[in-house]
Amino acid sequence: MSQLKDQMNIFLSADEIQNLVQDIARKIERDYAGSEVVMICPLKGSIHFIADLMRELKLPQTLDFVHLTSPKGHGVKIIQDISTEVENKHVLIIEEIIDAGRTLSFLYQRLLASNPASLKIVTLLDKPARRELSIKPDYCGKTIEDRYVIGYGLDSEELGRNYSDIYIFRN
Ligand code: IMP
Ligand code: MG
Repeated sequence: MSQLKDQMNIFLSADEIQNLVQDIARKIERDYAGSEVVMICPLKGSIHFIADLMRELKLPQTLDFVHLTSPKGHGVKIIQDISTEVENKHVLIIEEIIDAGRTLSFLYQRLLASNPASLKIVTLLDKPARRELSIKPDYCGKTIEDRYVIGYGLDSEELGRNYSDIYIFRN
């Protein structure tokens, strides 16, 4: 059976992705110097990245999930909220990609209202050209141009999340 990736080129190989994950983990370890962190995973695209980053990151850490959607023109809707009490905790939002920044901006403001000790944004990929709201990652694996990528959690209509490499559509 043909797969989406058959018509695509590899954009980042699994090895290249792991190198980015390691670089990010070392920077976070340096900045947090042994402190405990709360890792927040916005579903669903971040599951691969957070699973790898958690194993790479040598810090005491807890995990929670949040599921948000942003139907066009209807703001942001919470499908599943976190259950962790984040007050006075060091919180990291772990995104696979930042695009317009709508859901991330909403999540950031919402977590900030709970008075965390600190709140930072980690993303594997950033597409700043697409930004509609002024939000920037504190840790970023790679800045990319405005092209659609899939694999390693990133989907095209829910397909392709399972690929180990990240693919880009051919021009
Ligand atoms: P934002 O909240 O507008 O920044 O949208 C970010 C979400 O859009 C990501 O979490 C992805 O689910 C999706 N997205 C944006 N760009 C891509 C892409 O190139 N491939 C797959 N999903 C993408
Ligand atoms: Mg998506």
